[in-house]
Amino acid sequence: MIPESTIDQALKDLFGKIEFQAEPAGLYDPLRYMIAIGGKRIRPRLCLLTYSFFADTLTPQILEPAAGLEVFHTFTLIHDDIMDRSPLRRGHETVWKKWNEDTAILSGDVMCIDAYKRIAKAPAAVLPEALELFSRTASQVCDGQQMDMDFETRSDVSMKEYMQMIGLKTGVLIACASQLGALIGGADLPSQECLYDYGYYLGLAFQVADDYLDAYGNEKVFGKPIGGDILNCKKSWLTLKALELGADGLEEALNAPAVTPEEKAAKIARVKAIYDSVGVADAAKKAIADLSTRAVFKGTDAGIPPYAHDALKTFAHALVGRSF
Ligand code: IPE
Ligand code: IPE
Ligand code: MG
Ligand code: MG
Ligand code: MG
Repeated sequence: MIPESTIDQALKDLFGKIEFQAEPAGLYDPLRYMIAIGGKRIRPRLCLLTYSFFADTLTPQILEPAAGLEVFHTFTLIHDDIMDRSPLRRGHETVWKKWNEDTAILSGDVMCIDAYKRIAKAPAAVLPEALELFSRTASQVCDGQQMDMDFETRSDVSMKEYMQMIGLKTGVLIACASQLGALIGGADLPSQECLYDYGYYLGLAFQVADDYLDAYGNEKVFGKPIGGDILNCKKSWLTLKALELGADGLEEALNAPAVTPEEKAAKIARVKAIYDSVGVADAAKKAIADLSTRAVFKGTDAGIPPYAHDALKTFAHALVGRSF
C-alpha cells in the first residue's frame, strides 16, 4: 500500500509540473489555465489508489496515465461548458467565455489528444488493454453527453434512461480510472472488474450529488453557478424524481422562458419550491447514500485486503458522504 500522503504529494507534483507545448499560445494557454485553476482530481486519485493495492512504487508508467485521465476529464469540461452555456467552472470563467467558442473547441480537441499520449505511457505489457478500456470509455462519455442534450427537449424521460445517461457521461470515466490503476498495478481481470463496478456506482452517486448541488449547493464551494440545470431545462435527478412523486406544474415552470437576471432567479426559485413541495432534496440524499453503499459493496469481491476495502470506503465517503 502506498501511503495517502505519498499519493497527495505525487498528485501535487504531477499537476504542478505538467507541461503542454508552448506555441501557439492561443491553443495551449487554455489547457494551462484549466489545469492551473484546479479541480478535485478525483479520477487520477482513484487511479493511484487502486494501483496502490497491487504495487508499491509510483513510476511514470502509472503517473502519466493517471494524468491522462484528468486531462481527458478536463477536455470534456471545456466542451461541456460550451454545450451548457456555463459561464463559471472551478470558480473561474469558463474557456469559451474567457476566450471564445472556437478556441474552446480546438483547445478541447488538442487536450483529448494529449490525454491519449499520456495513457499510451502505460507499461507495454498492458498497453492494448489500457487503450481499449480508455477508448471505449471516451466514446461512451460522448454517447452520454448526447443523451443529456437530447433529454432537454423530451418530456417522457424515465429514471431508468436517466441512470443510463449518467452512467455514460460520468460513471464510466470514474470506473475506467478505478480499473486502469488496478490493471497497471498488475491485478487479475476479476479484481479489475470489481473495481470498475465500484467506480461506476460511485460515479452514479457523484452525478446525483452534482445534480443536487446544482440546485442546493453553495456557488463558492461548488465553483459553478447554482440553478444552471434548471435554466437549461436539464432532466436532472431532481426533476425526474419530482415528476415521479407527482409534483404539480413542474414542466410548465421548467419550460418558462427566462432571459433577464431577475427572470432567471425567479424561475430557479419557482422550480426549487416545487422540488421542496415533494421532498426531493431528502430523496436525493438517500439515493446518493444508497449508490455509494452499493459502490463499496461492489468492491468487496475485488480480492483486496481489508485495509484496501476500508480505503475504498473512505474514498467514497470523502467524495459523496459529506456536505449533504
Ligand atoms: C464535474 O466533475 C463534472 C461531473 C462529472 C459532475 P468534477 O466535479 O470532478 O469536476 P472538477 O474536476 O473537480 O472541477
Ligand atoms: C457533465 O455533466 C459530465 C461531463 C462533463 C462529461 P454536467 O454538465 O452536469 O457537469 P457540470 O455540472 O457542468 O460540471
Ligand atoms: Mg452537461
Ligand atoms: Mg455542465
Ligand atoms: Mg452538473
